[in-house]
Amino acid sequence: MSDWIKVAAVEELPEDAFVVVPAEDTDIAVFNLHGKFYAIEDVCTHDGGQLTGGAREGYELICPRHGARFDIKTGAALTAPAYEPTATFPVKVADGVVYTRDDRWD
Ligand code: FES
Repeated sequence: MSDWIKVAAVEELPEDAFVVVPAEDTDIAVFNLHGKFYAIEDVCTHDGGQLTGGAREGYELICPRHGARFDIKTGAALTAPAYEPTATFPVKVADGVVYTRDDRWD
């Protein structure tokens, strides 16, 4: 099973903020949206762009390269030119610290 990765202390990740942390072979972006934490792979499934370089509208993250939109809650690709979802990851909070892990190959 993959190890949990420390993201940040809860107070370091206020509402509407995000943090990108390196995982084993990718980057994971963890968002605090309306007080709930969501983790997605920071990679656009269209052509590998870094999603967190783009704008965010509500729960949608807009790829800065060609404008595909992704649902931060589910990873779903919402608009072309991306058609495949980006990965989502579990998040836990323990002792005031936010953690995530890449569980795709557990
Ligand atoms: S790389 Fe993201 S839309 Fe093309």
